[in-house]
Amino acid sequence: LGHFQPSQDFVGKKILITSGPTQEAIDPVRYISNHSSGKMGAAIADSFADQGAEVHLVLGKGAVRPQHPGITIHSVVSAQEMYEKVSSLHPSADITVFAAAVADYAPKNIAEEKIKKAGDAMTIELVKNVDIAFSLGKEKKWNQIHVGFALETENEEFHAKEKLEKKNFDLIVLNSMRDSGAGFQSDTNKVRIFSGDGSSINSEVLPKSEIAQLILKCIKQLPVKI
Ligand code: CTP
Ligand code: CA
Repeated sequence: LGHFQPSQDFVGKKILITSGPTQEAIDPVRYISNHSSGKMGAAIADSFADQGAEVHLVLGKGAVRPQHPGITIHSVVSAQEMYEKVSSLHPSADITVFAAAVADYAPKNIAEEKIKKAGDAMTIELVKNVDIAFSLGKEKKWNQIHVGFALETENEEFHAKEKLEKKNFDLIVLNSMRDSGAGFQSDTNKVRIFSGDGSSINSEVLPKSEIAQLILKCIKQLPVKI
């Protein structure tokens, strides 16, 4: 009774979403990672599925797993694994959303055995991971849409717009770091969304489900493609 029927604007569309943290192994028992919960990615996946899309969610370990039957989950651990999975799914995706918090660096060598405690200090050499969004941004076809995220602590707007351009995004969602009720573990978020044409919108602090719906609305308003 009174069941709310969301619009079905994404029926027949294939959506690819990265979400959650990546884990970069140091040895068999240790890794480098971050605090990403995957809640924002899960909310976006749910929103698209609610609107009739076929959703492929490439998900880092420990991230929130949405339950919607329209979502196929592809579990990955490292940035390299995430890159390989996303690359294989990308050619047929209409819209790709890069919501994952990908580790920028990974240990150069993964120790085969647990590293034993030794001297008073230790150093782990790190090497840069592949930039998934940048790399696939170069492959993007005229009929594909890419949406990115940015989390900045200074010069937020400048850095977000720089990433929009550099990574060939159609939209970038800038997460607010300044507001309580926003960020990695929170159920709410406050964002600014910048479009490639120079326009932008600001949200209030909202549940991540509502932020997701706002992002979908912005995607629908993009000039071309879908
Ligand atoms: N991203 C990605 N692969 C990476 C790093 C980032 O796909 N190896 C994506 C993120 O999912 C996000 C966007 O790129 O959509 C911006 O991520 P961010 O970490 O803010 O940008 P970086 O280019 O890594 O810059 P920095 O961390 O130095 O600010
Ligand atoms: Ca980064």
